[in-house]
Amino acid sequence: MQGVTVVDHPLVQHKLTIMRDKNTSTAGFRRLLREISLLLGYEVTRNLELTTTTIETPIETMEAPVLEGKKLVFASVLRAGNGLLEGLLDLVPAARVAHIGLYRDHDTLEAIEYFFKAPGDLGDRLVIVVDPMLATANSAIAAVDKLKARGATNLRFLCLLAAPEGIERFTAAHPDVPIYTASIDRQLNEKGYILPGLGDAGDRMYGTK
Ligand code: URA
Repeated sequence: MQGVTVVDHPLVQHKLTIMRDKNTSTAGFRRLLREISLLLGYEVTRNLELTTTTIETPIETMEAPVLEGKKLVFASVLRAGNGLLEGLLDLVPAARVAHIGLYRDHDTLEAIEYFFKAPGDLGDRLVIVVDPMLATANSAIAAVDKLKARGATNLRFLCLLAAPEGIERFTAAHPDVPIYTASIDRQLNEKGYILPGLGDAGDRMYGTK
């Protein structure tokens, strides 16, 4: 699918299988999500622009590569996005972080923002939006809408699982935002869960229900 990168590294696929298993504990699920986010983070940052800086090694002077531009932003869609965020911050400790809280209005079904905190200069930074499950894509679309309204122009979307329906809706709404995922699953069920999926990512991560 155009604009979608499936990270099919064997370690990602192996860890994902354990995460899908309903018998995996909360602690195990959280640990695996952190591990897998390092591998997904490696892929989503693969083509970051580099420049060079002059440094002194103990032996001589060299022009050495460093990341170009302002620090990137990880934008976590609350609450499940935080599970991916932690590993990503291990990988890019200097990254800035945005948090976006959305809930669904029961009557209008519109995604209502209840929390938004982000660096002020979003237009100067790469913004990587993180949410483990791209299901209906309602919250992902709304999160990107909110970020664009605050000036973001260079965005990527990172998830663990995506449903074909979610990819289609997200891509129609934001064709400029590439998607990175560990798997494209079969379909959504009537309640908006991904099949075969892994259940509710937030509940699995935090032991709630
Ligand atoms: N959100 C989840 O946590 N799981 C799904 O299957 C769909 C949306």
